[in-house]
Amino acid sequence: MMEISHLSVTYPNGIKAVTDANLMLSPGEIVALVGESGSGKSSLLYASLALLPRGSKTSGEVFLDGMNFLSLPHDRKRQFRWKKVSLVLQGSMNSFTPVLAMERQFVEAMQEHLNMKETDAAARAGELLEEVGLDRKFLRRFPHEMSGGQKQRCAIAMALCCSPDYLLADEPTTALDVITQAEIIDLLKRIVKARNMGMLMVTHDLALAASIANKISVMHRSRIVETAERDRIINDPKHPHTASLIRSLRTMEEEH
Ligand SMILES: Nc1ncnc2c1ncn2[C@@H]1O[C@H](COP(=O)(O)OP(=O)(O)O)[C@@H](O)[C@H]1O
Ligand SMILES: [Mg+2]
Repeated sequence: MMEISHLSVTYPNGIKAVTDANLMLSPGEIVALVGESGSGKSSLLYASLALLPRGSKTSGEVFLDGMNFLSLPHDRKRQFRWKKVSLVLQGSMNSFTPVLAMERQFVEAMQEHLNMKETDAAARAGELLEEVGLDRKFLRRFPHEMSGGQKQRCAIAMALCCSPDYLLADEPTTALDVITQAEIIDLLKRIVKARNMGMLMVTHDLALAASIANKISVMHRSRIVETAERDRIINDPKHPHTASLIRSLRTMEEEH
């Protein structure tokens, strides 16, 4: 179980981006964190892994298997980040080093975090690519030789390389076209199920959230204003802000 408890974030410039957020994530469960731009979703995600810029203030706890991650020493945090909880970032498909073939990038990550021998790491990289629906010959490619969707598949494979229990994804499909978006969403669903991982997915897109999540949390002006099962949020929103998000969704559907 991953539990975010009373998490608050203040940036060095004084902006309070997250206020008293609570969120629970169980193995095999997908929770979507939805809200408009600037509501604090990314801040919550980064804060929960202690990845905010220097000088930011975070209070609250993030329990992973009963331990408060935020109170662990620096080294332990680093281990937890790849092995317990892993990240797929907004635009992470652009985060690969342009001058290295994919195989090198996987091997280096696995050597660093898993202490693996080069040949074992390369073999495992091939398996990971196949798991995300890419032929292992993509390992020979450079980032610029792949489409946005293929790079995002690689980013997901990379996030899986230390077999984490939880995956945190920040707008993992926002930069992609609609068809590719749907493919990546299907892939994430399949992986979460096959590996019995918990996934927290941040998105500004309520329709997308509804297409993937078991549970939805709605964020508004730094606060989580409502959390419930997907169907309850969509059919019977309790908070006025959730209701207005759903109304705009229905209006968009009618206009199409
Ligand atoms: N590094 C930062 N330094 C200062 N303020 C920031 C920083 N990152 C985000 N903010 C501010 O925090 C608020 C929440 O931003 P963010 O978490 O990125 O929202 P979202 O992901 O929902 O779009 C916004 O007002 C934003 O301008
Ligand atoms: Mg964001």
